[in-house]
Amino acid sequence: MAPLEIYQFPCLSDNYGVLIHDAGAGVTASIDAPEAGKVKAALAEMGWRLTHILTTHHHADHTGGNAALKAETGCTIIGPRGEAAKIPGIDTEVGDGDEFAFGSHRVRVLETPGHTAGQVNYFIPSAKVAFCGDTLFAIGCGRVIEGTPRTMWSSLQKLMALPADTAVYCGHEYTQANAAFALTVEPENAALQKRAKEVDALRAAGKPTLPTSIGLELQTNPFLRPHVPAIQKRLGMEGRPEWEIFAEIRERKNKF
Ligand SMILES: [Fe+2]
Repeated sequence: MAPLEIYQFPCLSDNYGVLIHDAGAGVTASIDAPEAGKVKAALAEMGWRLTHILTTHHHADHTGGNAALKAETGCTIIGPRGEAAKIPGIDTEVGDGDEFAFGSHRVRVLETPGHTAGQVNYFIPSAKVAFCGDTLFAIGCGRVIEGTPRTMWSSLQKLMALPADTAVYCGHEYTQANAAFALTVEPENAALQKRAKEVDALRAAGKPTLPTSIGLELQTNPFLRPHVPAIQKRLGMEGRPEWEIFAEIRERKNKF
């Protein structure tokens, strides 16, 4: 099995594009397609030919390049069944638990509704990598736009159950602002304090803070930590259900 090669690059104002490539099989997928031009430039830089787009959700900053890239390359667009009507050019609809081949790798589909009603994330166990769209961000999570906080919490729990050493690619570079908010929820978290400093240094140097990992998020992401007594105490919600505590943290972030 050829190792999965991964190339991340900035798009639009704060999105990331990601290409994945299996050299043995000669296949290349774009994880979402924020803008066709940047995806094409990345393909040219790597010398890869686009064969697939794996769409996480329907928002225009994730699908804006679909039509142009498909017209130019004839690539196959795989995307969420739950919002297929909103995904330009979709060929193959996938839902929770589905698996499909990408070269010699197997891609597992996790449905993670909340940010959008049908959002899917893609997990590739053989490469220990997950593409989480706008569900999970570094030290944050997506806004709950089309679902309820309880739905979003269930979606995040699916990601929390992945192996700790899973690399996580996300749709946006929001980490620095997320860290500033996280420190208001859990200021005593030493791992978070350390990471916030690392994030500041990376951004000052113009470098990405992604990918992250499931293990690092479990340690530092307040949205994944509603069980932590110090957080429950700070919010005045000791012993409340985790999804309610998650909802309160999400609400505070919306106002931050
Ligand atoms: Fe989005």
